[in-house]
Amino acid sequence: MQSLHDSSGRYQTGFGNEFASEAIPGVLPTGQNSPQQVAHGLYAEQLTGTAFTAPRHCNQRSWLYRIRPAAMHKPFEPLAHATFHNRFDEAPATPNQLRWDPWPLPSAATDFVDGLVTLAGNGSAAEQAGCGIHIYAANRSMQGRFFYDADGELLIVPQQGRLRLATELGVLELKPLDIAVIPRGVRFRVELLDGEARGYVCENFGALLRLPDLGPIGANSMALPRDFLTPQAAYEDIEGEFELIAKFQGALWKARIGHSPLDVVAWHGNYAPYKYDLTRFNTVGSISVDHPDPSIFTVLSSPSDTPGTANIDFVIFPPRWLVAEHTFRPPYFHRNVASEFMGLIEGAYDAKAGGFVPGGASLHNCMSGHGPDAGTFEKASTAVLNDADHLTGTMAFMFETRKVIRPTRQALDAPQLQHNYYECWQGIRKHFDSERSA
Ligand SMILES: [Fe+2]
Repeated sequence: MQSLHDSSGRYQTGFGNEFASEAIPGVLPTGQNSPQQVAHGLYAEQLTGTAFTAPRHCNQRSWLYRIRPAAMHKPFEPLAHATFHNRFDEAPATPNQLRWDPWPLPSAATDFVDGLVTLAGNGSAAEQAGCGIHIYAANRSMQGRFFYDADGELLIVPQQGRLRLATELGVLELKPLDIAVIPRGVRFRVELLDGEARGYVCENFGALLRLPDLGPIGANSMALPRDFLTPQAAYEDIEGEFELIAKFQGALWKARIGHSPLDVVAWHGNYAPYKYDLTRFNTVGSISVDHPDPSIFTVLSSPSDTPGTANIDFVIFPPRWLVAEHTFRPPYFHRNVASEFMGLIEGAYDAKAGGFVPGGASLHNCMSGHGPDAGTFEKASTAVLNDADHLTGTMAFMFETRKVIRPTRQALDAPQLQHNYYECWQGIRKHFDSERSA
């Protein structure tokens, strides 16, 4: 038996490439995908992530060569889960600014799937648009069970604790400040490397996440394709009493399976998990005055049917230099047509003096005013700007969506909700003086 873990730390580089990987040399057929017989008695199976006839530049599929086909398991039956769902209509969508303290780490034994809590979302898997926004807090590895999400791809953003994602296509090891994307349908197991783990998950029901176009920025900057890592093939040949968990149309299902589904010995194609180190992001910004729009911080984007209007943008606010002259340097006051869910991986966010802490979250919906708190405004609007400001040790991120983000009932009822969040803007002073020039 070869352990899946043998491929830990071995990756293929690039974004959306035609990858190819063999845990046993010579498995991949030459000149065709599904020969009458595959080497070593393996089964050939195609996994498609886009329509057969999707345009070539966004068409994604992979061919898997595996010990047993994915069809081989007992019937699914419903699996209850108290906190992980896609019910985004339980509570009225609110225009209030919302902010949450970090979700607590569990005390009872809780694995990644057990520890998922849905905070908000929009659209649906049935609609093939929108997203679910979840946090996870876990204290043990998944044992004897495997998970896949038929509703959307999973963008996993660890905030605390390293993860090992053992997937059908190989192993991804993640630390906080890394992200991973597990494609829709790919089966995986989450192992905790530090005993406890917490983070955020965006479940994308829409078009697959891709690198944004760069326009006048040119061929370089922002997230570079060569910094995306896809695992090498690895497999485990294990039989036993296991559980396969599926998320399907917003609900969980479970089926008994007599072997590990992580039994893909070789694969090729462009539909595969990947990871990215956020500290590799090549940040661009103003070297004169003002701020470009925050779209310059986009790592990945799920386009919608409307050009330039994303279903979801995944945006980060990494360490950077602020050098703009006679400019209010922190994020300015704004209202957007888009809706913004934010999280903080480490450090502080430069628009807030306090209250937004690592592991916490905030939600500012369509046209809800927000921006710097009173203290941040007073400090930044009077700061002497002879020197550059160096923001270090910080990493905030945003799931920005075209549709209003609807918080779940459990998110609104949670003790982590900061009912006094609005107060951070109540101390804003009136400076208006009709006699005063700028
Ligand atoms: Fe905002």
